[in-house]
Amino acid sequence: MPQIRFEDVSVRYDGTAHHVLDRITLELSEHRIGIIGANGSGKSTLARLVNGLGEPTSGRVLVDGADVARHGRDIRRRVGFVFSDAENQIVMPQVRDDVAFSLRRLRLPKAERTARVDAALERFGLTELAEASPHTLSGGQKQLLALASVLVIEPDLIIADEPTTLLDLRNRLRIAHEFAGLPQQLIVVTHDLELLADFDRVLCLDGGRVIADGAPDEVCGHYRRLMAEQPL
Ligand SMILES: Nc1ncnc2c1ncn2[C@@H]1O[C@H](COP(=O)(O)OP(=O)(O)O)[C@@H](O)[C@H]1O
Ligand SMILES: [Mg+2]
Repeated sequence: MPQIRFEDVSVRYDGTAHHVLDRITLELSEHRIGIIGANGSGKSTLARLVNGLGEPTSGRVLVDGADVARHGRDIRRRVGFVFSDAENQIVMPQVRDDVAFSLRRLRLPKAERTARVDAALERFGLTELAEASPHTLSGGQKQLLALASVLVIEPDLIIADEPTTLLDLRNRLRIAHEFAGLPQQLIVVTHDLELLADFDRVLCLDGGRVIADGAPDEVCGHYRRLMAEQPL
């Protein structure tokens, strides 16, 4: 698995009074890692640092020893990011081209490019929709398309930010099933605590810090108690 290191990482956005992430030091090398925490606790900020979508205000994030801030382009080839709102990830007018678009930088021979796109569409049940406009897909299908567009580049590491939030039960199961079968390292930000039941490690963020880190049942239990204690 890739080795992700956070070295004393803080993030502070312009105009905010306090740090969104406050001196976080972490080493992430497990296969499947979950990130939980209340709205606004910094989960997306943390996830985005791993592939250079965001930068630390201080400290460093390294993937296999490479500083993400300096090697953004290589890192983005290795680290796929699936956004919560799959609509935002659509770039092309046809489903097939949208998946193929991800491959543009890999300079593959045409036959291989076509084969990879076909396989990705098949895997996510999108073959019949290959010629459709991505905007006409259901929310669940859009999420599957977003995942197909990320997996087609065969990244070493996949980060998904609230991938099941907008999905019905069937599509949620489909995503959970795909995640369970991925050989790659996977980091999932979610409020869907059940999705994390068999993950290797879960982190809980609060107040810019990692307040719990360990097995899913233990960390999710901690989070549930923390939320229950807070006044409504
Ligand atoms: N681009 C930004 N500019 C200013 N503040 C931001 C920006 N992005 C996020 N924030 C703030 O940082 C905090 C953490 O945001 P985020 O990482 O999105 O949390 P989460 O994903 O856990 O809900 C929130 O208070 C949010 O309003
Ligand atoms: Mg978020």
